Amino acid sequence: MLGRSAKASPIGKPPHPKLIITIDGPAGVGKSTVAKLLARRLGLVYLDTGATYRALAYAALSQGIDPNDVAHLVRVAKSLRLDLHQVREDAIRVILNGCDVTRQIRTERITDAAAVVAQHPPVRAALVRLQRKLARADALVVEGRDTGSVVFPQARYKFFLTANARVRARRRQMELRSLQGRSPALSTIARQLAARDRLDRLRKIGPLIRPRGAVVLDTSRLTTTEVVQRMLRYLRFQNHGPHHRGHRIPRSVATTWLYATEAQRNFR
Ligand code: DC
Repeated sequence: MLGRSAKASPIGKPPHPKLIITIDGPAGVGKSTVAKLLARRLGLVYLDTGATYRALAYAALSQGIDPNDVAHLVRVAKSLRLDLHQVREDAIRVILNGCDVTRQIRTERITDAAAVVAQHPPVRAALVRLQRKLARADALVVEGRDTGSVVFPQARYKFFLTANARVRARRRQMELRSLQGRSPALSTIARQLAARDRLDRLRKIGPLIRPRGAVVLDTSRLTTTEVVQRMLRYLRFQNHGPHHRGHRIPRSVATTWLYATEAQRNFR
């Protein structure tokens, strides 16, 4: 399933910003940590598309709307006022209709509801529109399940992260512990992740697939820093190496690029 190439976007014509790096992959591979860090290293804006599904699930449950009530969900999705700000290297703030819901959207209840909400094609269409609207910046790192295949199929650089099931369950357990001070047993988390994987991979619209042209990185044995270093090395190679494909990075970004490789050297 992961090797399948992406189909053309069924949701209108995507915009063409100057520079987009997409990072897709299943839950627990460390996408969001890596994406935030990469964005900071390169001085790019970070966009967490999962937060839009979570925010919608939160808004729906707060209004007593069933996560399977598609007509109501679409109405709520179209009226969502959502702001995502990266406040630190490793943290974003999620502001929904003027209220800070950063923590509230990460609970298990919302995680489960978001997975259901994300199954409905009309809901996905509304949220993909919202995600493209949120991508106002000229240069950004976008992270999710279908960002390189559906949301920004024309993205200049695409990564697809994987990790083995045990590692992913352990990472999710640590995340839950730091969030709420406790977590279910590893075997329970592994079952929950497998169920979410099935939902993500089997849906008809925007399934979790390796987008065409995406670089696959297995993060099972890598630290976050090592993953980011490999990405930076790949990007530098693409930009300056012999296989440069004619993609020129805007001068302002190229400067941060050089700065990033400097930072990368300091990291070793
Ligand atoms: O990455 P996350 O756990 O915050 O995502 C929350 C939910 O949203 C998850 O069930 C997968 C779904 N999602 C999606 O379907 N497409 C995306 N681009 C991002 C997330």
